[in-house]
Amino acid sequence: MCGIVGIIGRGPAAPLLLDALKRLEYRGYDSAGIATVDADGTLTRARAAGKLRNLEGVLNGAMPGGSTGIGHTRWATHGAPTEANAHPHLASPVAVVHNGIIENFRALRTALAAKGVSFSSETDTETIAHLLAANLQTEADLKAALVETVAALEGAYSLAFAFEGQPGTLAAARRGSPLAIGNGPDGIMIGSDAIALAPFCDDIIYLEDGDIAILSAGKADIFDSTGAAVSRPAMPVPMEVSVAEKGNFRHFMAKEIHEQPEVLTHTISHYVDVAAGTLRPDRIDLDFSKISRISITACGTAYIAGLVARHWFEAFGGIAVDLDMASEYRYRSQLMPKDELALVISQSGETADTLASLRKAKAAGQRVAAVVNVRSSTMAREADLVLPTLAGIEIGVASTKAFVCQLATLACVAIKAGMDRGTLSESAAAALVGDLIEVPRLVSEAIRLEADLTRTARLIAPASTALYIGRGPSYGIALEGALKLKELSYIHAEGYAAGELKHGPIALVDDTVPVVVVAPHDAFFAKTVSNMEEVAARGGRIIVMTDAAGAAEMGEGSAETIVMPTAPAMAAPMVSAIPMQLLAYHAAVLNGTDVDQPRNLAKSVTVE
Ligand code: F6R
Repeated sequence: MCGIVGIIGRGPAAPLLLDALKRLEYRGYDSAGIATVDADGTLTRARAAGKLRNLEGVLNGAMPGGSTGIGHTRWATHGAPTEANAHPHLASPVAVVHNGIIENFRALRTALAAKGVSFSSETDTETIAHLLAANLQTEADLKAALVETVAALEGAYSLAFAFEGQPGTLAAARRGSPLAIGNGPDGIMIGSDAIALAPFCDDIIYLEDGDIAILSAGKADIFDSTGAAVSRPAMPVPMEVSVAEKGNFRHFMAKEIHEQPEVLTHTISHYVDVAAGTLRPDRIDLDFSKISRISITACGTAYIAGLVARHWFEAFGGIAVDLDMASEYRYRSQLMPKDELALVISQSGETADTLASLRKAKAAGQRVAAVVNVRSSTMAREADLVLPTLAGIEIGVASTKAFVCQLATLACVAIKAGMDRGTLSESAAAALVGDLIEVPRLVSEAIRLEADLTRTARLIAPASTALYIGRGPSYGIALEGALKLKELSYIHAEGYAAGELKHGPIALVDDTVPVVVVAPHDAFFAKTVSNMEEVAARGGRIIVMTDAAGAAEMGEGSAETIVMPTAPAMAAPMVSAIPMQLLAYHAAVLNGTDVDQPRNLAKSVTVE
């Protein structure tokens, strides 16, 4: 989603703003802009539709002066991704950049228009600039004007302001969307996440919901929403955000796929004493003997992790599980008993719908556990219990390493549930932990199939529709395969439970439609193969992902077969996820799409 940066520097602000914005490119955006204030107080703005290189083109040879400035990458919500809608928006003396959505912007815009204000964009953001400009005329000082302005805003937002005539002053505010302030040798900075600030700052202050900040050289005064001074702790820049580099890989996604054995090792060894082969129950502070059921809520790939984990909670823990997409959960009138555990899953820890679900569960008096990757995120701060995934920073918009780490974490939690509830014997739990310890090695064997999958991707890349099918936990992996293919390569793809195919989607099958069958040799294998035969009989072009036992049982046939490493049942989804990622990645590379930042997508979906 959108990215915010700001700086009161010791040298020219514009090049630093561009550098920091480049570090936010991974979030996904479709226009960009900066505004700087020079020593005389002159404010200069430059904006461009499209990628940052377009903005650099505009600035080429005309880099604005001044050591104070703000910058933005915009992911369009209100109005098309044009230059006119790109941030910063101006209403003299105010320049503003904004992440999030102002829900009451129509009412604000109408009221401002009635007072004679005219607008030059379709955005909700421009109303904020006009509002603050008006409040600066009536209120005693900048702080009072900011308090008055944010009090009028409904919705989720983070904001950074620069001011014509005031070099050396910036302001910031947040509600719902994250915002941080960093201090370093180049000056004092604002960033919508630590990644933008990491190379420039030694320490970071995360603003809290409702906070307002006024920055001057080297210092930030922070206030709550009433204007009372508050202090927020400064923290060292998280190590992992400093290392957001592609290395020798062509794309961040490729790098992240190849990092999976390592990050799985980190994640598993957080929850498992690998030497002893036992779970570390103290790392999962939940007593499942006192929990009546679990509700799992997440979005996208994280939701799919929940779908797979439901099998484990039911099978190992003998516990009922509700599973919901967060965008639905938050508006349902479901029963929310207090002894139900609310489990949210999120890589970013900032996804608006998942965060709203977390808050809904907390408001209902439920204990909330969050499986999150970004430890400094809002969800990590608001949940009662954080179950970290140790995937490291994930830059590619399509989630890969975070997904397998979510699965590994959830597997550990499900084993803990079985131990607490007495549904898993000690030896059964130890056997599952032993299976888990094998996962990084199996995943690394699966990654070695890349050359085969690059060839298989040639069958998929020209297709206009592809189907993915699987049963049991492999149904989730089929959904994940389809999601990855469509988001990366823009090929229409659907994931289905294999048994569901004949209830409608099989009508799509002809000899132009690749059908990817996820069929490890597990309890569902025979039935999945029957469903595969139904597709083959209708001319579908089958690509089957199985293991050695599955391949031997199917024998020679016309299907394209990828032989995955043989994995224990619980490990299989993490292993099968790898060919899904590689297939989608290589199909996208063949189709020439923007792999790390697919069109219309954002890494951290901080709007509803
Ligand atoms: C797909 C993908 C998305 C995210 C979803 C949730 O590859 O990455 O579907 O999984 O937007 O994001 P988080 O996990 O940050 O809550």
